[in-house]
Amino acid sequence: MEKIRISNTQGLKLEGTVRISGAKNAVLPAIAASLLTRAEVRLDNVPLVKDVYTILALMKGLGADYDLQGNSLSIAMKKVLSDEASYEQVRAMRASILVLGPLLARYGKATVALPGGCAIGSRPIDLHIHGLQKMGAAISLEHGYIHAEVSRLHGAEVEFEKKTVTGTENLVMAAALAEGETVLRNCACEPEVSSLCELLVKMGARIEGLGQDTIRIQGVKELGGASHKIIPDRIEAGTFLVAGALCRGDLLLTDIEPGHLETVLEKLRIAGAGLDLGPDRVRVTGGADIRSQDITTSSYPGFPTDMQAQFMVLMTQAQGTSIITETIFDRRFSHVNELMRLGASIEVSGDKAIVHGKTPLSGAEVMATDLRASASLILAGLIAGGQTLINGVEHIDRGYENIEAKLRRLGANIERITG
Ligand code: EPZ
Repeated sequence: MEKIRISNTQGLKLEGTVRISGAKNAVLPAIAASLLTRAEVRLDNVPLVKDVYTILALMKGLGADYDLQGNSLSIAMKKVLSDEASYEQVRAMRASILVLGPLLARYGKATVALPGGCAIGSRPIDLHIHGLQKMGAAISLEHGYIHAEVSRLHGAEVEFEKKTVTGTENLVMAAALAEGETVLRNCACEPEVSSLCELLVKMGARIEGLGQDTIRIQGVKELGGASHKIIPDRIEAGTFLVAGALCRGDLLLTDIEPGHLETVLEKLRIAGAGLDLGPDRVRVTGGADIRSQDITTSSYPGFPTDMQAQFMVLMTQAQGTSIITETIFDRRFSHVNELMRLGASIEVSGDKAIVHGKTPLSGAEVMATDLRASASLILAGLIAGGQTLINGVEHIDRGYENIEAKLRRLGANIERITG
């Protein structure tokens, strides 16, 4: 069993330059989009994280040929050979649901396992299904699978009850090949959604309203190939920015899009971190004193839920009390008990976590339960006295490319051990 071990004598100072990888949550829909065409789609700046290999295995099963050279991928779905995304695949990664819309649009049939439970909350996909039904798909749920069929999708007016990132992505991809116009309202405006739309437009799709919460799509008969660069991972960037603020660091993050991180940067400024922004880079310097503040997660451009756990660690080292309100997922505090094992003082009440700072942390053995929780435990391990041992390493590999190597280059004493 692999574990991550962090050894720290009080007062680690992280220093140096770290290059931020491409975004996991942008590359997954981009790979699914290649289902919409027979032609080749080339993607650059692809992060080599486990979720990428999972979706590529799924795409291969559907009939794709691909070639991954370093961080460049070329993929082509000349012919759809299967319409099934199995329970094994979907269980490994909920984002597998992203093949539902494009498969239905291209092939008229899709059999996708229903994503089961998730550590961070109940995550239904009713809005995906409801939207596709409005576009004419006949959908039934049997034996844990979604069975969807249609001769050709048609345009429709769909208003999302809630902003949903992959729901918006699924319907935009479906609408790109539908007959007529689709209008999607109350869409998610995350940069990953806009980047997918940019790729689709390069493939020949007709889309208006990129980055807005109303998107109009004129369906076309056929889409072509395209080349596209995956946007930087704003959550990986946010994680390293918190590391810099936490460890009295002096870090230069390169290959990032500061504009995608405005709310996170604002909260870091309030916390007392020094920030120097460039067009594709940010320098963060951590101060001795960290200021407490309240944070409420919301959809973009609000404070990202995927940064909640990491920011909680920073608030454990702040003078005073911070209230963190999680509005997106109803069970996204599983990292709290583990942080308390390291000495943090946190109370959870409903959708709020009350963080009492400043409490020194001391190393212990802990368990990561999901991707961002594991990132928060690594951050806590960087400042906890002595040794921290993190179990559940498989989670971190899903969304962070070489995080230990990147941290080691910045001065952290972190390694992966088996034991
Ligand atoms: C995406 O998940 C991201 N994943 C998540 O990142 C991220 O936390 C989330 O968006 C929110 O920003 C990918 O992009 C692959 P949602 P998604 O649909 O699309 C409810 C990470 O750590 N909802 O926007 O699955 C849902 O329960 C991951 O990288 C419905 O009720 O999230 C939630 O409360 C974790 N019905 C809210 O909407 C639906 O049909 C937002 O979820 C769909 C969603």
